[in-house]
Amino acid sequence: MKRDTIYDTHRQPVPPFEFNDQVAAVFDDMLKRSIPLYDEIIRRQAQLVAAFYPENSRIYDLGCSTGNVGLAVCEAMGSTSFNMIAVDNSAAMLAIYDERRRALPAGDRITLVDDDVTRTAIEDAGIVIINFTLQFLSLADRDRLIDRVYRGLRPGGLLLFSEKIVHADDDFCTLQQDVYYRFKRENGYSDLAIAQKREALERVLIPETVADHLRRLTGAGFKRLDIWLKWFNFCSWICQK
Ligand SMILES: C[S@@+](CC[C@H](N)C(=O)[O-])C[C@H]1O[C@@H](n2cnc3c(N)ncnc32)[C@H](O)[C@@H]1O
Repeated sequence: MKRDTIYDTHRQPVPPFEFNDQVAAVFDDMLKRSIPLYDEIIRRQAQLVAAFYPENSRIYDLGCSTGNVGLAVCEAMGSTSFNMIAVDNSAAMLAIYDERRRALPAGDRITLVDDDVTRTAIEDAGIVIINFTLQFLSLADRDRLIDRVYRGLRPGGLLLFSEKIVHADDDFCTLQQDVYYRFKRENGYSDLAIAQKREALERVLIPETVADHLRRLTGAGFKRLDIWLKWFNFCSWICQK
């Protein structure tokens, strides 16, 4: 796994964050050192997919990046047949995913689609996964996407999604940021790298509160839903239609 050193050296100005070749090449290291409990999220989601997958339905992974969920689902499903549609609009991410997918015996069960998730048709879905991707869309696109996900899910189908979030309370917001930067320092990011990444993500990644997400999910129609994992400013949900 190539180490993420993108923000280690001084940059002036810091360009807005993009999912380009440079990021794709170090992305797995970036995820593991930037998202608390990332491996746990992916492993448990794959197990949930295996437990809830309705036969012959489609699994969607929207904002699939380099395919960590897809690979984990292949392992969790074993010999069970499934059909996964993995969507991303970064060619650099999809190129890495494609290479990893081809190395797996069940890799042909995953179809990679280079598209904007705001346009992807969602039909006959048994499971929809959206990890750390809603946060990069406009608020209106988030509403529309979650509405389409709800409509595209079979009754009983699952939406599994994870997001970076903000606390509604200003003091807790400061506290969660302090804890998060401590986590990043513990994972080898310098203060300069943390500050420059933060600047790069400003106006690109807009986190919302748990209440905002709850409003959107219930507004779309989800009635059975819960947060199954939360770590300060990170949150994973399970929602059933
Ligand atoms: C933080 S990464 C997601 C990580 C991945 N889901 C995982 O769990 O490993 C966000 C991904 O969403 C993609 N993305 C962002 N906006 C998108 C859009 N409008 N349409 C399609 N993909 C998008 C990016 O290219 C990037 O690969």
